[in-house]
Amino acid sequence: MKETKLTFIADTHHFSKTLSDGGRQYKLRSGSDQKCLMETGDIVDAAFRQIAQSDTEAVMIVGDLTNNGERVSHEEFREKLYTLQKDKPVYVITATHDWCSDENPRRYIGDAVYRDVPVMASDELRDFYFDFGPKDADSEFITHLGTTSYTVDIGEDVRLLALNDDQSGRGGAGFSEEHYQWIEAQIAKAKADGRILIGMEHHMLIAHIHPLIFGGSCVAEREKVATRLADAGLKYMFVGHSHIQCIDTFTTKNGNTITEVNVGSLVGYPAPIVNVTVCDEGLKIDVDHVKTFTYEGKEIDALPYLEKHATDLFDRVMEGALISKKEFVDRLSALGVKGDHFGNLVYVVRPLAKGYFGAKAGSVVKLLRLLGCKSCIDAKAAEKFKDKPLLDFVHETWLSMLDGHGRGVHDKDYYNLVMSVGNALVHLRAEPLTLKIRQMLHNILTNDRFENAIL
Ligand SMILES: [Fe+2]
Ligand SMILES: [Fe+2]
Repeated sequence: MKETKLTFIADTHHFSKTLSDGGRQYKLRSGSDQKCLMETGDIVDAAFRQIAQSDTEAVMIVGDLTNNGERVSHEEFREKLYTLQKDKPVYVITATHDWCSDENPRRYIGDAVYRDVPVMASDELRDFYFDFGPKDADSEFITHLGTTSYTVDIGEDVRLLALNDDQSGRGGAGFSEEHYQWIEAQIAKAKADGRILIGMEHHMLIAHIHPLIFGGSCVAEREKVATRLADAGLKYMFVGHSHIQCIDTFTTKNGNTITEVNVGSLVGYPAPIVNVTVCDEGLKIDVDHVKTFTYEGKEIDALPYLEKHATDLFDRVMEGALISKKEFVDRLSALGVKGDHFGNLVYVVRPLAKGYFGAKAGSVVKLLRLLGCKSCIDAKAAEKFKDKPLLDFVHETWLSMLDGHGRGVHDKDYYNLVMSVGNALVHLRAEPLTLKIRQMLHNILTNDRFENAIL
């Protein structure tokens, strides 16, 4: 077969700069998110320039095009798509953030938050993005929300199955029975036409890392949906939504396997541009990243900037506790937690925050030994990392999940030391939750299937 080169990006979440003046409320909002807000337009521009200069044959965007369905964000984003389309065919699907399904679009001016932002309705999206999918579609299915799923041929051998899975009609993300039947017909048709079918939908079929974190981010009844698609013959699905990089497989009782590639958010660390070469060996994955972007007149090295933005999310509440009760409450509230209800927690969090920012791994190991968890600790690993700040471990664990480069894969001692914490938790209290946390830590530290993957 002839090689076909494709590019997938996800969760561009474009936020129009007209929706903020960069004041206090904006800073609280931006500081409570792993991905960027005001920077999105500049990151997307940089990514599109990189992609336009690459040898890819088509660009796919896996939903959540805008921050929260704001009409102005959609209008600006579509202009960027038209620019990219001058060099590459572009196919998009929309997702729940594109029609503000949580009814929470906001603009941030100084100390005030306004909820008067005009948004796009779900049944407007298909026509609005007509030039980026439906126009070239061979077959199309319009959902009860008015959103579109479609198929389109790319190159000589590949067909894209672009699915809108916002609502199944039975509660949660997924597909109605009519939608399933259309999908199954498309899978059969691709087989009959001798085309390799590649699926994309926004929500996940597989709870990557652990159901404790991402179970709720999947389509409803995820195993049933994955089974139905895999048993119909679909082998590949590209998804977004979780904002993490991960590849996993699901095998049905009948022995059919579907591989899911979870593409991280373009506007958060690590700004992934996932290149896929479809060839005789299968699908070869090669991840590129946005290199630099220009924001407020300055050229910014994307990865360190986005890494800091992502790790700040963890640190800001702790830092708030050290500043004042008000700052702690405001930063908690920005995370969507009812800060007012938990304000007095500041007196408990404050000493913990001092440890969080100041402690070395050696002190944590000492504490675990005092708690009677000596047998859980790998002594060699503890000695090797005794002077490494605790904060680094927290950040690196979080980044391992986001970028799909598990920090425990290439360093056994690192893995053993972090797992000592999970083992100690189980030692102190062996119950379903602590067992899940230990398993989750293992999965994060070993999340490393993206590098040079062949599906
Ligand atoms: Fe998203
Ligand atoms: Fe999403």
